[in-house]
Amino acid sequence: MSLLKNNKFTTVKDVADIEGLMGKALHYKSNPFVDKDLGENRKIGLLFLNPSLRTRLSTQIAAQNLGMEAVIFNVDKDGWRLEFEDGAIMNGSTSEHIKEAAPVLGSYFDILGIRSFPTLQDQEEDYREGYLNAFIQYCGKPVISLESATLHPLQSLTDLITIQEEAAGKEKIKVLMTWAPHVKPLPQCVANSFAEWVNAWGKAEFVIANPDGYNLSVEYTQGATVVHNQEEALQNADFIYVKNWSAYEEYGMMPGLHADWMLTNEKLALTNNAKVMHCLPVRRNVELSDEILDSSNSIVTKEAGNRVWAAQAVISELLKMNS
Ligand code: CP
Repeated sequence: MSLLKNNKFTTVKDVADIEGLMGKALHYKSNPFVDKDLGENRKIGLLFLNPSLRTRLSTQIAAQNLGMEAVIFNVDKDGWRLEFEDGAIMNGSTSEHIKEAAPVLGSYFDILGIRSFPTLQDQEEDYREGYLNAFIQYCGKPVISLESATLHPLQSLTDLITIQEEAAGKEKIKVLMTWAPHVKPLPQCVANSFAEWVNAWGKAEFVIANPDGYNLSVEYTQGATVVHNQEEALQNADFIYVKNWSAYEEYGMMPGLHADWMLTNEKLALTNNAKVMHCLPVRRNVELSDEILDSSNSIVTKEAGNRVWAAQAVISELLKMNS
């Protein structure tokens, strides 16, 4: 029985059994090479339209642990500039249409992973996920989102297994996702995705704290308690998920810088000695203070290490579905 319900991994909605997938990821953490022949003679193409450290390397290692060959292609730097618009007259800066590029890539690989960030210019266009959906439509192979315009499912699966490990059987946990300051507008995708997964998991009291003007789309936050008072939200938290995002409503804007929302030891004292998470990269002393990041409460590097096992579980399920 597959742990995925669709032949792709782009959202928690593609998952049939969240706990099963988390269990599989943690099983791979204990036994990285148990399925080392599963991907023999098969290839995964990891396509990046934007920069990455963790996603790129952890997904490559995950595929290699399963015996697959992983090929990384920086589409934005090394490929032809892609056109996505249907019916476009390509007399401008784009040289290759997705209708040719995607099926060609699909013919080279058994699975494709794609990273494609939002423009933060046009909410309707970004939330339509045009780039990701065009690859899915035209490549003919299972697609894994390596972070799209609206979601980052490999990160969220990682975050849940990290919480599960750290909670170590605790019956009731409070997870707080708090907005943090930043110097430039960032996508909402990590925050949307974390909300979507924690809500679907349903094993935690889930609170989101953000300043006025930074509410996320209710499509993802429904089920969570959304508050605008960070200190109140920190009370009794067991896990604090720190993340900046730009405004969803006043799309892509930064309606207030709120430097005082950065987490400090003084604020941490309000919590249940909470573990602090962040997807990384993080801007020190802007989003998160040195005193937090350098403390034993920070589990950000352990969290990043777990990216391998989440990716391995997902690739493994797709290999089995397509064997
Ligand atoms: N968290 C995350 O996706 O990291 P990278 O952008 O480095 O891949």
